[in-house]
Amino acid sequence: FRVVVLASGRGSNLEALIRARAAGLLPINLVAVFSDRAKAGALEIARAAGITAQFVNPRDFDSREAFDQAMFAAVDGHAPDLIVLAGFMRILSPSVVALRAGRMINIHPSLLPKYPGLHTHQRALDAGDVEHGASVHYVIPDLDAGPILAQTRIPIVPGDSPESLAARLLPKEHALLVSVVADLAAQAART
Ligand code: GRF
Repeated sequence: FRVVVLASGRGSNLEALIRARAAGLLPINLVAVFSDRAKAGALEIARAAGITAQFVNPRDFDSREAFDQAMFAAVDGHAPDLIVLAGFMRILSPSVVALRAGRMINIHPSLLPKYPGLHTHQRALDAGDVEHGASVHYVIPDLDAGPILAQTRIPIVPGDSPESLAARLLPKEHALLVSVVADLAAQAART
C-alpha cells in the first residue's frame, strides 16, 4: 500500500506515520513526501527516515493549476494508492482533486463540518464550544468538505487558549491519522 504525504510545515503527523510504521503497526510503504515550502520540517523528517523528499516551489509556476499539475505529475510517478495531506496549506485546483477522488485524504483540526479553513482553535473558543477535535476526510474540490472518515474529540476547559487546545489535540490527531491510514491499508489488502 503505497502512500505519498504532502506537508507544508512541521511534519509531526508525517512523523507519527513513520513511527507507527517502524513499530510494525502500520503496514504501508511511505514512498515520498512533497512540500511547497523549502524549510518544512516534514522534508527533514522524511530525509532522516530515508524517504524521498521533494520541495516543489510555487514561485516556479505562473498559476495554481501549473503548480498542481507539476507537483501531481511527480506524485503520480510514485504510483500511490493513497495521498495524505498532513498539514498541506495550499488549496488544490478542482481538476487535480477530482482525478484522485477517493484516493486522497486530509487531516483537519476541527470537528468538521464546523470550522473549515484556518484558525480552527480560536473559532471553537469564540463560539463557546464545549468540545473540539480533529477530522480525517476525503479531499473533494470544496475546502475541508469531503466525506468524513473519522474524528477525535477533546473537551474544551476553562482557561483554554488556541495554543493549549492545539497542544492537547495534536497527539490525538496523530493517533487518528495513523488509525485511518491503517484502516484504508487493511481495506485495500482485502480487495
Ligand atoms: C495539524 O494540526 C493539522 O491538522 C493541520 O496542520 C497541522 C500540521 O501539523 N492541518 P504537522 O505539520 O503535521 O506537525
